[in-house]
Amino acid sequence: MITASAPGKLILLGEHAVVYGKPAVALAIDRRFACSLETSDEDMLNGRPADFSKHPYIHHMLRKHGVTNVAIDTVSDIPAGSGLGSSAALSVSVSAAIRSMKGESVTEEDIAMDAFDTEYEVQGRASPVDSSASTHGKGIVVNGPGERLWSASRGGNAWDISEIDIPDMTLVVGYTGLHAPTGPLVEKVRKFREKNRFGYDIVEEIGVATLEGINALGVGDIARLGELMSYDHKLLTILGVSCAELDKLVNAVSPYSYGAKLTGAGGGGSMISLTDRPDKVCEVIERRGGQPFAVRTNVKGVSVLNRS
Ligand code: PMV
Repeated sequence: MITASAPGKLILLGEHAVVYGKPAVALAIDRRFACSLETSDEDMLNGRPADFSKHPYIHHMLRKHGVTNVAIDTVSDIPAGSGLGSSAALSVSVSAAIRSMKGESVTEEDIAMDAFDTEYEVQGRASPVDSSASTHGKGIVVNGPGERLWSASRGGNAWDISEIDIPDMTLVVGYTGLHAPTGPLVEKVRKFREKNRFGYDIVEEIGVATLEGINALGVGDIARLGELMSYDHKLLTILGVSCAELDKLVNAVSPYSYGAKLTGAGGGGSMISLTDRPDKVCEVIERRGGQPFAVRTNVKGVSVLNRS
């Protein structure tokens, strides 16, 4: 049996615009998805006979590697549809487990590209930000400065993924409890951007703010980074991917934060606060009906454990 695990992530700046090749910055967090894989007489998922065609990410990954007759067990502390990269962490860990089982290459780049391909095909459109952050761990930048890890291109867009050093900072996540699948939100932005010059301009503006934020991160200017995060939330709201619950939590924590914004696809899911008052922020999120948790960053990416 092979067991692999991979972290969830949060996007500090640049979600949605990154789908169109704009920059983004994402950090892996101390919440993980783990899967164990072994050959079996019939397809099994978590101890029961399974029809993998009902599990699109796993199905796509198995088909891609020509694997049939497997038993997969999963365990995760990343809430699904929470904007914290659960589908990428699933794809990354399943790719690592399959590749190990088959004796194939398990470089970070191979795994990240497998997971990106799966996210792209299942969601109809995606960027490599989630899959790269989950594979590499720590902090990654897309289409910005830093030491290059790998590159990807798809549908006329191209992305260079780099590693970035992350200064010490405290981030609190507030989960709305609303499950919001990524695909429909990405599709909503596509329509808005294609039909409206205004939508196009907002995506460009997110790109500009994100690059400035990456530079602020690089020099440890947490105050400026926070301002840009709050600004990014406003731009994402104009794009139509926020919701009342997210706005309520973002507004409530703002007096105690350098900055706050939705993270990931939006429409529910989670928001983040960059703060030096994590206890107060957690209390405020809880009082407004959200589920708060402080996250640790600078965590390791995909890991494979070989048990037989
Ligand atoms: O909500 P998540 O964790 O699936 O993050 C999605 C990030 C998007 O930029 C909206 C989509 C993407 O593939 O980059």
